Amino acid sequence: MDRYADVFNVRGHKYDAAMRAYPTARDEEFRQLFKGIDTAPLKRVFDLPSGGGYLHRFIAANAQLIQFDPSAGFATQGVLPVDLESPELPAPGADLIVSLAALHHVSNKTGFIQAALAALRPGGWLCIGDVAADSNITRFLDQFVGMHNGMGHSGDYLDPESREFQTAVQQQASLVRCEVAPCPWHFANTDDLAEFCRSLFGLLAVDDESLLKALDAQVGITTDTTGVSLEWELLYLQFRK
Ligand SMILES: C[S@@+](CC[C@H](N)C(=O)[O-])C[C@H]1O[C@@H](n2cnc3c(N)ncnc32)[C@H](O)[C@@H]1O
Repeated sequence: MDRYADVFNVRGHKYDAAMRAYPTARDEEFRQLFKGIDTAPLKRVFDLPSGGGYLHRFIAANAQLIQFDPSAGFATQGVLPVDLESPELPAPGADLIVSLAALHHVSNKTGFIQAALAALRPGGWLCIGDVAADSNITRFLDQFVGMHNGMGHSGDYLDPESREFQTAVQQQASLVRCEVAPCPWHFANTDDLAEFCRSLFGLLAVDDESLLKALDAQVGITTDTTGVSLEWELLYLQFRK
């Protein structure tokens, strides 16, 4: 196991607890993965890495969802082990492969994309969402989270200007979308926002006031009549085979 997998062996249960306590907070982050794609006919779906398994609400109810994760920190049954540096994916392939919030800890991104495309059936989609290089989110993760999670954080982030994605696909598929898009996390109030972030990021000994101050300064918090939103944003890539 690599170091990042070890991190989630230790704090995966806290990440999962946050996702279960606030199951809809990141809905827009998941919905953005499939913007412009009709997921109804996509019947065999791979989620890598799945964490504790949060994708089922966003795909067809009768789809077969196969979940993979390198870490043992998620208690969910039925999650298969995987090495994201060289994923071996089961035949007969998938109609949809999803990778959310993980590629910044994969060094061989080209290898990951090529392995995923090879496992796609013709007409299938590979949908990736991850933190964009040189964004507010990278600074929040590597500075504030890294300082307060007891383990540090240093990501190798996807650069939207990079030709790496074009090179990765070669003749295998087309890159249909490459877009940095807002995907705000939504909560009823700032207490819930602070509780979610503390658990999701495994933050230690940070009071709500300092956490909310950092979130507001480095990411942005907005308020409206429906509650509060953390102005999260990710780079979304959609490949079609
Ligand atoms: C931020 S979570 C994302 C989980 C899920 N896709 C989501 O969006 O909630 C990161 C996941 O990456 C997994 N992981 C472990 N080692 C990894 C590695 N070397 N590279 C990328 N991801 C890794 C962790 O186990 C964890 O499930």
